[in-house]
Amino acid sequence: MEGTPTGFPREAVATRLLAASVRTSYDPVVEIDWSAPHVPGAYWMPPERSSLYGTSLWTGLSEEQRIELTKHEVASAASAGLWFETILMQMLIRHYYDADPTSRHAQYALTEVADECRHSIMFGRLIEAMGCPVYRADPFDHLLGRWLKATATGPRMYAAILIAEEILDAFQREAMADESIQPLIRMVSRIHVVEEARHVRYARDELARQVEAAGPVGLAYARVVIGRAAYSITRRLVNPRAYAAVGIPPAAGVAAARANPHWRATLRWSAQRIAEHLTELGLVAGPGRLLWRRAGLIGD
Ligand SMILES: [Fe+2]
Ligand SMILES: [Fe+2]
Repeated sequence: MEGTPTGFPREAVATRLLAASVRTSYDPVVEIDWSAPHVPGAYWMPPERSSLYGTSLWTGLSEEQRIELTKHEVASAASAGLWFETILMQMLIRHYYDADPTSRHAQYALTEVADECRHSIMFGRLIEAMGCPVYRADPFDHLLGRWLKATATGPRMYAAILIAEEILDAFQREAMADESIQPLIRMVSRIHVVEEARHVRYARDELARQVEAAGPVGLAYARVVIGRAAYSITRRLVNPRAYAAVGIPPAAGVAAARANPHWRATLRWSAQRIAEHLTELGLVAGPGRLLWRRAGLIGD
């Protein structure tokens, strides 16, 4: 990669990211000991990040059930991550279809798809290793995802990618540094955080360019699609069925989580970086902004 002519900033960014991909890429099938026993009594995520932490439902759970709930919440987030990665890979491949295959920019798009292939295998292995079900999106979100992956281009494509990547990243950066939680989760988080940092850089860089190139009508439409993507991604983080794993009726769990000030603060914390970034670009405004608020990602 050294010595590649980089006449355009876009190419310079992609050249750097390709070099970084050669230096630090992981194959989770090889790097992770999937059969290692889990640590008894260890949480799967910091308990204060559970959607029910601090509620009366949480108080009513035994320590063992609380640990079990965090396990299913992690499985739910991994299922959502995997779902979104599948959407993202198809959007990047569509982007690549129209790109110059000799450009570093296009080659990095393929490199990112390769990363996401490994990530989705990693999340699938993780769900299996935890002994949890795959928490699939409900039929409506599944359909919206199908539509997004088939049609999204430009600002809405890159903004949707960033929302999913940066929200998950906030949780994983915290998890990888927390020595009290299950080592398997710390390892999965570390691999994902390292590789996602490149994806975030690529998407942020491209998004700025796409916003500049878009017209006012395209941007108005993008704001609504972006708001809906933020809403769907947030609502899918904890699948209602995860509560049933500890005997809590899904509807009761969802209602308690939505009213839970700890969980609301956690959601805003996870989205702070990306909400600020997209606001600066003028992408969190108009009717789309209401969806960000309804998702609990921004305050009033
Ligand atoms: Fe990923
Ligand atoms: Fe990614």
